[in-house]
Amino acid sequence: PNQDLNIEIAEEIAMNFNYILTINDDEQTKPTETKQEKDILKERWEKIYSEKKDKFKDRAPVVTVMGHVDHGKTTLLDHIRKTQVADKEAGGITQSIGAYQTVYNGKKITFIDTPGHEAFTEMRARGAQSTDIVILIVAADDGVMPQTIEAYNHAKDAGVPIIVAINKVDKPNANVELTKQQLVAKLNLIPEDWGGDAITVPISAKSGMGVDDLLEMVLLVSEMQEIKCYPKGNARAIIIESKLDKFLGPVATVIVKDGILKNGDFFVAGSTFGKVRRLIDSNGKTIKQAGPSTPVQILGFDEVPSMHSILYAVNTLDEAREISSIAKEKEESKSKQKKHVKLEDFMNMMK
Ligand code: GTP
Ligand code: MG
Repeated sequence: PNQDLNIEIAEEIAMNFNYILTINDDEQTKPTETKQEKDILKERWEKIYSEKKDKFKDRAPVVTVMGHVDHGKTTLLDHIRKTQVADKEAGGITQSIGAYQTVYNGKKITFIDTPGHEAFTEMRARGAQSTDIVILIVAADDGVMPQTIEAYNHAKDAGVPIIVAINKVDKPNANVELTKQQLVAKLNLIPEDWGGDAITVPISAKSGMGVDDLLEMVLLVSEMQEIKCYPKGNARAIIIESKLDKFLGPVATVIVKDGILKNGDFFVAGSTFGKVRRLIDSNGKTIKQAGPSTPVQILGFDEVPSMHSILYAVNTLDEAREISSIAKEKEESKSKQKKHVKLEDFMNMMK
Protein backbone atom coordinates (compact mmCIF):
# COMPACT_ATOMS: atom_id res chain seq x y z
CA PRO A 1 0.00 0.00 0.00
CA ASN A 2 2.89 2.37 0.48
CA GLN A 3 4.77 1.78 -2.73
CA ASP A 4 4.11 2.57 -6.36
CA LEU A 5 4.26 -0.40 -8.71
CA ASN A 6 5.67 -0.28 -12.20
CA ILE A 7 3.64 -1.81 -15.01
CA GLU A 8 5.74 -4.97 -15.27
CA ILE A 9 5.29 -5.83 -11.61
CA ALA A 10 1.60 -4.92 -11.70
CA GLU A 11 1.20 -7.25 -14.70
CA GLU A 12 2.92 -10.05 -12.88
CA ILE A 13 0.75 -9.63 -9.80
CA ALA A 14 -2.35 -9.54 -11.97
CA MET A 15 -1.29 -12.80 -13.61
CA ASN A 16 -0.99 -14.42 -10.22
CA PHE A 17 -4.59 -13.52 -9.55
CA ASN A 18 -5.62 -14.81 -12.98
CA TYR A 19 -6.08 -11.43 -14.59
CA ILE A 20 -4.46 -9.99 -17.65
CA LEU A 21 -3.70 -6.36 -17.10
CA THR A 22 -4.60 -4.15 -20.05
CA ILE A 23 -3.67 -0.52 -19.92
CA ASN A 24 -5.22 0.72 -23.17
CA ASP A 25 -8.86 1.61 -23.35
CA ASP A 26 -10.32 -0.77 -25.96
CA GLU A 27 -13.54 -2.76 -25.77
CA GLN A 28 -12.06 -5.62 -23.82
CA THR A 29 -11.15 -3.50 -20.85
CA LYS A 30 -14.65 -2.98 -19.52
CA PRO A 31 -14.96 -3.85 -15.83
CA THR A 32 -14.91 -7.59 -15.48
CA GLU A 33 -18.06 -9.56 -15.04
CA THR A 34 -17.01 -10.56 -11.57
CA LYS A 35 -17.47 -7.03 -10.33
CA GLN A 36 -20.93 -6.86 -11.85
CA GLU A 37 -22.08 -10.24 -10.61
CA LYS A 38 -24.56 -9.71 -7.84
CA ASP A 39 -24.80 -12.31 -5.22
CA ILE A 40 -28.13 -13.70 -4.19
CA LEU A 41 -27.87 -12.98 -0.50
CA LYS A 42 -26.63 -9.46 -0.95
CA GLU A 43 -29.63 -8.75 -3.13
CA ARG A 44 -31.95 -10.30 -0.60
CA TRP A 45 -30.52 -8.12 2.15
CA GLU A 46 -30.71 -5.00 0.08
CA LYS A 47 -34.40 -5.75 -0.40
CA ILE A 48 -34.97 -6.23 3.32
CA TYR A 49 -33.13 -2.96 3.94
CA SER A 50 -35.19 -0.92 1.57
CA GLU A 51 -38.47 -2.37 2.86
CA LYS A 52 -37.80 -2.12 6.57
CA LYS A 53 -35.77 1.04 7.03
CA ASP A 54 -38.20 2.44 9.59
CA LYS A 55 -37.66 -0.57 11.83
CA PHE A 56 -33.92 0.04 12.14
CA LYS A 57 -32.50 0.40 15.64
CA ASP A 58 -29.34 1.92 17.07
CA ARG A 59 -26.53 -0.50 17.67
CA ALA A 60 -23.26 -0.22 19.61
CA PRO A 61 -20.46 1.47 17.66
CA VAL A 62 -17.66 -0.77 16.42
CA VAL A 63 -14.35 0.97 17.10
CA THR A 64 -11.09 -0.29 15.59
CA VAL A 65 -7.79 0.64 17.21
CA MET A 66 -5.01 1.03 14.67
CA GLY A 67 -1.49 2.37 14.54
CA HIS A 68 2.21 1.62 14.27
CA VAL A 69 3.75 -1.37 16.05
CA ASP A 70 4.19 -0.91 19.82
CA HIS A 71 2.36 2.40 19.95
CA GLY A 72 0.06 0.98 22.64
CA LYS A 73 -3.11 -0.36 20.98
CA THR A 74 -3.39 -3.52 23.05
CA THR A 75 -2.39 -1.70 26.24
CA LEU A 76 -5.21 0.79 25.66
CA LEU A 77 -7.77 -1.98 25.22
CA ASP A 78 -6.34 -3.78 28.24
CA HIS A 79 -6.83 -0.65 30.28
CA ILE A 80 -10.42 -0.28 29.09
CA ARG A 81 -11.24 -3.94 29.73
CA LYS A 82 -8.99 -4.26 32.77
CA THR A 83 -7.18 -7.22 31.21
CA GLN A 84 -3.53 -7.93 30.50
CA VAL A 85 -3.50 -9.28 26.99
CA ALA A 86 -0.42 -7.22 25.93
CA ASP A 87 1.72 -8.86 28.63
CA LYS A 88 0.94 -12.34 27.37
CA GLU A 89 1.60 -11.78 23.67
CA ALA A 90 4.60 -13.45 22.08
CA GLY A 91 7.35 -10.81 21.86
CA GLY A 92 4.74 -8.21 22.83
CA ILE A 93 3.45 -8.19 19.26
CA THR A 94 -0.20 -8.59 18.35
CA GLN A 95 -0.60 -11.12 15.53
CA SER A 96 -4.32 -11.36 15.19
CA ILE A 97 -7.45 -9.29 15.38
CA GLY A 98 -9.04 -9.28 18.79
CA ALA A 99 -12.61 -8.14 19.35
CA TYR A 100 -14.23 -7.25 22.64
CA GLN A 101 -17.34 -5.51 23.85
CA THR A 102 -17.28 -3.21 26.85
CA VAL A 103 -19.75 -0.89 28.53
CA TYR A 104 -18.84 2.74 29.17
CA ASN A 105 -21.25 5.12 30.92
CA GLY A 106 -23.99 2.58 30.36
CA LYS A 107 -23.31 2.43 26.61
CA LYS A 108 -21.93 -0.59 24.82
CA ILE A 109 -18.87 -0.17 22.63
CA THR A 110 -17.30 -2.92 20.53
CA PHE A 111 -13.54 -2.68 20.11
CA ILE A 112 -11.35 -4.34 17.52
CA ASP A 113 -7.62 -4.56 18.19
CA THR A 114 -5.35 -4.83 15.15
CA PRO A 115 -1.66 -5.64 14.81
CA GLY A 116 0.73 -2.78 14.03
CA HIS A 117 3.53 -4.87 12.60
CA GLU A 118 4.12 -4.10 8.94
CA ALA A 119 3.44 -7.71 7.92
CA PHE A 120 -0.26 -7.41 8.77
CA THR A 121 -1.47 -4.91 6.18
CA GLU A 122 -4.39 -7.12 5.19
CA MET A 123 -5.70 -7.33 8.76
CA ARG A 124 -5.49 -3.57 9.13
CA ALA A 125 -7.38 -3.06 5.89
CA ARG A 126 -10.08 -5.46 7.05
CA GLY A 127 -10.23 -3.82 10.47
CA ALA A 128 -10.85 -0.45 8.84
CA GLN A 129 -13.53 -1.86 6.58
CA SER A 130 -15.57 -3.52 9.31
CA THR A 131 -15.74 -0.56 11.67
CA ASP A 132 -17.72 2.59 12.43
CA ILE A 133 -14.86 4.60 13.98
CA VAL A 134 -11.07 4.28 13.93
CA ILE A 135 -8.90 5.25 16.89
CA LEU A 136 -5.52 6.01 15.38
CA ILE A 137 -2.89 5.62 18.09
CA VAL A 138 0.33 7.58 17.77
CA ALA A 139 2.96 7.24 20.48
CA ALA A 140 4.18 10.69 21.49
CA ASP A 141 7.75 9.43 21.96
CA ASP A 142 7.91 8.02 18.44
CA GLY A 143 5.59 10.15 16.32
CA VAL A 144 3.95 9.39 12.99
CA MET A 145 5.53 6.20 11.60
CA PRO A 146 4.99 4.11 8.41
CA GLN A 147 2.10 2.01 9.75
CA THR A 148 0.49 5.13 11.24
CA ILE A 149 0.32 6.46 7.69
CA GLU A 150 -0.84 3.13 6.32
CA ALA A 151 -3.57 2.76 8.95
CA TYR A 152 -4.69 6.31 8.32
CA ASN A 153 -5.00 5.56 4.61
CA HIS A 154 -7.10 2.45 5.25
CA ALA A 155 -9.45 4.45 7.46
CA LYS A 156 -9.67 7.23 4.91
CA ASP A 157 -10.35 4.78 2.08
CA ALA A 158 -13.08 3.15 4.12
CA GLY A 159 -14.61 6.58 4.82
CA VAL A 160 -14.51 6.01 8.56
CA PRO A 161 -14.21 8.89 11.07
CA ILE A 162 -10.86 9.00 12.86
CA ILE A 163 -10.02 9.94 16.42
CA VAL A 164 -6.29 10.37 17.02
CA ALA A 165 -5.09 9.18 20.43
CA ILE A 166 -1.67 10.62 21.22
CA ASN A 167 -0.34 7.96 23.55
CA LYS A 168 2.49 7.49 26.06
CA VAL A 169 2.28 11.11 27.25
CA ASP A 170 3.58 9.87 30.63
CA LYS A 171 7.01 9.19 29.13
CA PRO A 172 9.72 11.79 29.79
CA ASN A 173 10.60 11.89 26.09
CA ALA A 174 6.99 12.26 24.94
CA ASN A 175 6.52 15.23 22.64
CA VAL A 176 2.87 15.99 21.97
CA GLU A 177 3.59 19.18 20.02
CA LEU A 178 6.02 17.46 17.68
CA THR A 179 3.56 14.60 17.18
CA LYS A 180 0.87 17.10 16.21
CA GLN A 181 3.26 18.78 13.79
CA GLN A 182 3.84 15.39 12.17
CA LEU A 183 0.10 14.75 11.96
CA VAL A 184 -0.15 17.97 9.97
CA ALA A 185 2.94 17.40 7.83
CA LYS A 186 2.54 13.70 7.09
CA LEU A 187 -1.22 13.14 7.20
CA ASN A 188 -2.60 16.59 6.64
CA LEU A 189 -4.58 16.15 9.86
CA ILE A 190 -4.87 19.52 11.57
CA PRO A 191 -5.75 19.20 15.27
CA GLU A 192 -8.86 21.02 16.50
CA ASP A 193 -6.83 23.13 18.94
CA TRP A 194 -4.74 24.28 15.99
CA GLY A 195 -7.80 25.40 14.09
CA GLY A 196 -8.40 22.19 12.11
CA ASP A 197 -11.01 19.48 12.47
CA ALA A 198 -8.91 16.48 13.52
CA ILE A 199 -9.90 15.19 16.94
CA THR A 200 -6.80 14.47 19.01
CA VAL A 201 -6.80 13.21 22.59
CA PRO A 202 -3.60 12.93 24.65
CA ILE A 203 -3.59 9.72 26.67
CA SER A 204 -1.47 7.32 28.62
CA ALA A 205 -2.73 3.82 27.97
CA LYS A 206 -0.48 2.66 30.78
CA SER A 207 -1.69 4.95 33.58
CA GLY A 208 -5.13 5.50 32.10
CA MET A 209 -4.73 9.26 31.93
CA GLY A 210 -7.01 10.74 29.27
CA VAL A 211 -8.70 7.41 28.49
CA ASP A 212 -12.04 8.69 29.81
CA ASP A 213 -11.79 11.71 27.51
CA LEU A 214 -11.07 9.37 24.62
CA LEU A 215 -14.10 7.20 25.39
CA GLU A 216 -16.33 10.28 25.75
CA MET A 217 -15.12 11.32 22.33
CA VAL A 218 -15.90 7.87 20.91
CA LEU A 219 -19.47 8.15 22.18
CA LEU A 220 -19.79 11.69 20.84
CA VAL A 221 -18.55 10.74 17.38
CA SER A 222 -20.74 7.65 17.32
CA GLU A 223 -23.80 9.75 18.19
CA MET A 224 -23.10 11.87 15.15
CA GLN A 225 -22.92 8.80 12.93
CA GLU A 226 -26.02 6.90 11.97
CA ILE A 227 -25.06 3.58 13.50
CA LYS A 228 -28.10 1.46 12.78
CA CYS A 229 -29.04 -2.15 12.29
CA TYR A 230 -32.00 -4.29 11.46
CA PRO A 231 -32.33 -5.99 14.85
CA LYS A 232 -34.50 -9.01 14.03
CA GLY A 233 -34.49 -12.03 11.80
CA ASN A 234 -31.66 -13.95 10.18
CA ALA A 235 -28.26 -12.57 11.03
CA ARG A 236 -25.78 -10.92 8.75
CA ALA A 237 -22.25 -10.80 10.14
CA ILE A 238 -18.87 -9.67 8.92
CA ILE A 239 -15.96 -12.10 9.24
CA ILE A 240 -12.97 -10.33 10.75
CA GLU A 241 -10.80 -13.36 11.27
CA SER A 242 -10.79 -17.06 10.44
CA LYS A 243 -8.44 -19.93 11.04
CA LEU A 244 -8.13 -23.67 11.31
CA ASP A 245 -7.86 -24.51 15.00
CA LYS A 246 -6.04 -27.74 15.80
CA PHE A 247 -8.74 -28.85 18.20
CA LEU A 248 -11.84 -26.96 17.19
CA GLY A 249 -11.53 -27.13 13.38
CA PRO A 250 -12.48 -24.13 11.23
CA VAL A 251 -13.29 -21.14 13.45
CA ALA A 252 -14.21 -17.58 12.55
CA THR A 253 -14.59 -14.42 14.56
CA VAL A 254 -17.42 -12.28 13.29
CA ILE A 255 -19.17 -9.10 14.25
CA VAL A 256 -22.91 -9.38 13.87
CA LYS A 257 -24.20 -6.45 11.84
CA ASP A 258 -27.93 -7.19 11.68
CA GLY A 259 -30.37 -9.70 13.08
CA ILE A 260 -29.70 -12.29 15.75
CA LEU A 261 -27.22 -15.10 15.23
CA LYS A 262 -28.35 -18.16 17.16
CA ASN A 263 -26.87 -21.48 18.10
CA GLY A 264 -28.10 -24.01 15.55
CA ASP A 265 -28.52 -21.48 12.71
CA PHE A 266 -27.58 -22.55 9.21
CA PHE A 267 -25.38 -20.12 7.36
CA VAL A 268 -23.46 -19.31 4.20
CA ALA A 269 -20.19 -17.38 4.03
CA GLY A 270 -18.91 -17.08 0.46
CA SER A 271 -18.31 -20.59 -0.78
CA THR A 272 -18.41 -22.14 2.70
CA PHE A 273 -21.47 -23.05 4.71
CA GLY A 274 -22.35 -24.68 7.98
CA LYS A 275 -24.46 -24.81 11.08
CA VAL A 276 -23.59 -22.87 14.23
CA ARG A 277 -22.36 -25.54 16.63
CA ARG A 278 -21.12 -23.13 19.25
CA LEU A 279 -20.96 -19.38 19.82
CA ILE A 280 -18.18 -18.07 22.06
CA ASP A 281 -18.16 -14.48 23.32
CA SER A 282 -15.08 -12.32 23.85
CA ASN A 283 -14.70 -13.60 27.41
CA GLY A 284 -14.52 -17.18 26.20
CA LYS A 285 -18.02 -17.99 27.41
CA THR A 286 -20.40 -20.10 25.35
CA ILE A 287 -23.50 -18.09 24.52
CA LYS A 288 -26.80 -18.99 22.88
CA GLN A 289 -27.20 -16.00 20.61
CA ALA A 290 -25.49 -12.80 19.53
CA GLY A 291 -27.14 -9.56 18.43
CA PRO A 292 -25.86 -6.58 16.41
CA SER A 293 -22.32 -5.28 17.09
CA THR A 294 -21.50 -8.35 19.18
CA PRO A 295 -18.16 -9.95 18.38
CA VAL A 296 -18.44 -13.70 18.54
CA GLN A 297 -16.49 -16.79 17.57
CA ILE A 298 -18.36 -19.36 15.54
CA LEU A 299 -17.75 -23.09 15.32
CA GLY A 300 -19.45 -25.22 12.69
CA PHE A 301 -18.00 -24.25 9.29
CA ASP A 302 -17.45 -26.96 6.70
CA GLU A 303 -14.13 -25.27 5.87
CA VAL A 304 -12.23 -22.13 6.83
CA PRO A 305 -14.19 -19.18 5.41
CA SER A 306 -12.47 -16.45 3.46
CA MET A 307 -11.79 -13.44 5.64
CA HIS A 308 -13.42 -11.17 3.10
CA SER A 309 -16.77 -12.87 3.19
CA ILE A 310 -19.97 -11.88 4.87
CA LEU A 311 -21.87 -14.51 6.76
CA TYR A 312 -25.60 -14.80 6.23
CA ALA A 313 -27.86 -17.01 8.31
CA VAL A 314 -30.37 -18.88 6.15
CA ASN A 315 -33.40 -21.03 6.90
CA THR A 316 -32.28 -24.51 5.93
CA LEU A 317 -29.15 -26.56 5.45
CA ASP A 318 -30.15 -27.26 1.84
CA GLU A 319 -30.35 -23.56 1.14
CA ALA A 320 -26.95 -23.00 2.75
CA ARG A 321 -25.41 -25.78 0.71
CA GLU A 322 -26.98 -24.66 -2.53
CA ILE A 323 -26.00 -20.99 -2.25
CA SER A 324 -22.45 -21.83 -1.21
CA SER A 325 -22.06 -24.25 -4.10
CA ILE A 326 -23.10 -21.51 -6.54
CA ALA A 327 -20.45 -19.27 -5.00
CA LYS A 328 -17.93 -22.07 -5.26
CA GLU A 329 -18.68 -22.67 -8.94
CA LYS A 330 -18.29 -18.97 -9.63
CA GLU A 331 -14.96 -18.95 -7.82
CA GLU A 332 -13.77 -21.96 -9.77
CA SER A 333 -14.79 -20.65 -13.16
CA LYS A 334 -13.26 -17.30 -12.25
CA SER A 335 -9.92 -18.92 -11.54
CA LYS A 336 -10.02 -20.93 -14.78
CA GLN A 337 -10.66 -18.01 -17.08
CA LYS A 338 -8.13 -15.27 -17.28
CA LYS A 339 -9.94 -12.00 -17.56
CA HIS A 340 -9.00 -8.62 -18.83
CA VAL A 341 -9.03 -5.81 -16.35
CA LYS A 342 -8.18 -2.13 -16.52
CA LEU A 343 -5.34 -0.79 -14.40
CA GLU A 344 -7.54 1.43 -12.20
CA ASP A 345 -10.05 -1.37 -11.66
CA PHE A 346 -7.28 -3.71 -10.75
CA MET A 347 -5.89 -1.23 -8.25
CA ASN A 348 -9.35 -0.80 -6.73
CA MET A 349 -9.79 -4.53 -6.48
CA MET A 350 -6.50 -4.85 -4.63
CA LYS A 351 -7.57 -2.36 -1.97
P1 GTP B 1 1.39 -4.24 18.32
O1 GTP B 1 0.07 -4.86 18.57
O2 GTP B 1 2.47 -5.23 18.26
O3 GTP B 1 1.38 -3.32 17.14
O4 GTP B 1 1.72 -3.27 19.59
P2 GTP B 1 0.65 -2.41 20.39
O5 GTP B 1 0.38 -1.15 19.67
O6 GTP B 1 -0.50 -3.23 20.78
O7 GTP B 1 1.53 -1.99 21.67
P3 GTP B 1 1.40 -2.61 23.14
O8 GTP B 1 0.11 -2.23 23.74
O9 GTP B 1 1.75 -4.04 23.10
O10 GTP B 1 2.52 -1.74 23.88
C1 GTP B 1 3.88 -1.75 23.52
C2 GTP B 1 4.71 -1.33 24.70
O11 GTP B 1 4.45 0.03 25.02
C3 GTP B 1 4.40 -2.13 25.97
O12 GTP B 1 5.61 -2.36 26.63
C4 GTP B 1 3.52 -1.21 26.77
O13 GTP B 1 3.63 -1.41 28.15
C5 GTP B 1 4.08 0.15 26.39
N1 GTP B 1 3.06 1.21 26.50
C6 GTP B 1 1.85 1.23 25.91
N2 GTP B 1 1.18 2.36 26.24
C7 GTP B 1 2.00 3.05 27.06
C8 GTP B 1 1.88 4.31 27.74
O14 GTP B 1 0.88 5.02 27.68
N3 GTP B 1 2.96 4.71 28.48
C9 GTP B 1 4.09 3.96 28.59
N4 GTP B 1 5.06 4.44 29.34
N5 GTP B 1 4.22 2.78 27.99
C10 GTP B 1 3.21 2.32 27.21
MG1 MG C 1 -1.08 -5.04 20.12
